[in-house]
Amino acid sequence: MGERLTILYEKKPCYDIVFTQDFSGLVPELMALGNLQDRNVCIVTDITVDSLYGEEVLSLLKGSCRKAVKYAFPAGEKNKNLDTVKSIYTFLIGEGFHRKDLIIALGGGVVGDTAGFTAATFLRGIDFVQVPTTLLSQADSSIGGKTGVDFDSYKNMVGAFKMPSLVYMNLDVLKTLDDRQFYSGFAEIMKNGLIRDDIFYQWLIENMYEICERDLDVLQEMLIKSCTVKKLIVEKDPLEKGDRALLNFGHTIGHAIEKYKNFELYHGECVALGAVAASYISWKRGLLSMEEYYEIRDMFVPFNLPITTEGIDVEEILRLTKSDKKMEGSQIKFVLLKKIGRAVIDKTVTDEEIMAAVREIYFSDKDAHE
Ligand code: GLY
Repeated sequence: MGERLTILYEKKPCYDIVFTQDFSGLVPELMALGNLQDRNVCIVTDITVDSLYGEEVLSLLKGSCRKAVKYAFPAGEKNKNLDTVKSIYTFLIGEGFHRKDLIIALGGGVVGDTAGFTAATFLRGIDFVQVPTTLLSQADSSIGGKTGVDFDSYKNMVGAFKMPSLVYMNLDVLKTLDDRQFYSGFAEIMKNGLIRDDIFYQWLIENMYEICERDLDVLQEMLIKSCTVKKLIVEKDPLEKGDRALLNFGHTIGHAIEKYKNFELYHGECVALGAVAASYISWKRGLLSMEEYYEIRDMFVPFNLPITTEGIDVEEILRLTKSDKKMEGSQIKFVLLKKIGRAVIDKTVTDEEIMAAVREIYFSDKDAHE
């Protein structure tokens, strides 16, 4: 039933990631978790994903569990908040959910993070399963047990580590994902090659055409390789006390741009910009060569990811990098590249270095007229 990776937690098998090309294996996988016939199951999704896959998944569940219900909230980052969590609690209470029942997060990163946080806190924690439907959530947010919501203007400020019981990926959903969403997810995949696996990074370059054509077998191989990088990192440091922060490569400046632009740019687009900026600092520090820097920068282009952006205020971006939660005291935990495939955490990056890197990705009208 599909290819799989098993994620260990404290050296013991914790949950499987199943890679498939349809939803038909979902119920058997849920049965394997135990007692499905005695459990209520709530699919938590957003209205967009609901209109595509909600009924299909609900009808698969019906008859296999005690009761199957569905809760859909409006799509978008602006709904990743405690109000949405509260509305899910109210729904679950109204449907008589107990501690042995199950939540299925069907959707992208916003759904997975919000439904996961609801599962982590409802009745002090009930089981949940991730069914990610975007490339970004398949490559990154559905794995590793980070759940949470934004609070005030702070991204992912309230959350919990809560391991899913299963991650079930149907790669077929990627065929209809709009281009921007697809390439946004690809940025996290490229990031995994850059921080940990230069052979995978080369493989991505060699398979560029098939990836952009969305050849499902190539996408499956790509996701297995990418999730293997993430698996090795989260197994070693599940609660981000150390090396898990390497996964934040591109995210310090990326999150600041995301916030500055009021989420008008997609997460992966901001990660690509942040990765270019962090690679620039790595070059200026003599860690990467100039050739490596330009190669990394230019590799985002065929995947339709931005390497410059207009309309940003360099000093404001600096200020926002400091309000991010990737801080330790007053120091930013910055991730730099020692070489392609080898990232390091550095707490000595200065304001001047950050501002120079932001200027590097800042495309102004002035540049256009030169
Ligand atoms: N998205 C980064 C992490 O899971 O740690």
